[in-house]
Amino acid sequence: MSLLEEIAEQVRACRRCVLAQGRNNAVPGAGASDARIMFVGEAPGQVEDQQGIPFVGPAGKVLDKLLKRAGLTREEVFITNIVKCRPPENRDPRPDEVEACREYLDGQIACIKPRLICTLGRPALQALIDPKASVMKLNGQVIEKEGLTFVPLLHPAAGLHNENMKASITEGFDKLKGILERYT
Ligand code: URA
Ligand code: SF4
Repeated sequence: MSLLEEIAEQVRACRRCVLAQGRNNAVPGAGASDARIMFVGEAPGQVEDQQGIPFVGPAGKVLDKLLKRAGLTREEVFITNIVKCRPPENRDPRPDEVEACREYLDGQIACIKPRLICTLGRPALQALIDPKASVMKLNGQVIEKEGLTFVPLLHPAAGLHNENMKASITEGFDKLKGILERYT
């Protein structure tokens, strides 16, 4: 078993935080073990919890379109979340849960060694880059931190209930497309 698969197995058996109690399936992540680009969202939603696969519900449908727009396929990237189990009623993950789950994400990053890590939405941005950072300000920018290169993006689901956000979400992925030509 590869180290990446081993991490996935650990996640499926994990009971490190309270989110283990309400889950049907942990969602370790999916995609290429040698991906050049990693996408890190917030937490599994209802459909993800049912299937054990990230971004397969309504947000995932939007993400698929945005990936295509940036010239990427799901198969060539790796997609995961800052916490691997669904929070009750899709509430934001709590700091202690993010902290408890962090080792798995760090392990995945160490295995995959992506050229770029795209955060999707505020919780991933604040957990990985800066707890005070604004997701609107940093959307589609390149940020170097501790030897890793990040591109913060808005969450694909942000446009589902807010038409005004759609243009900004698309703009971030269009910027990503330009960045990919330079970094990969
Ligand atoms: N939203 C997320 O942040 N992650 C998923 O996996 C699904 C929806
Ligand atoms: Fe373990 Fe992370 Fe699931 Fe919490 S969210 S139980 S730390 S895998």
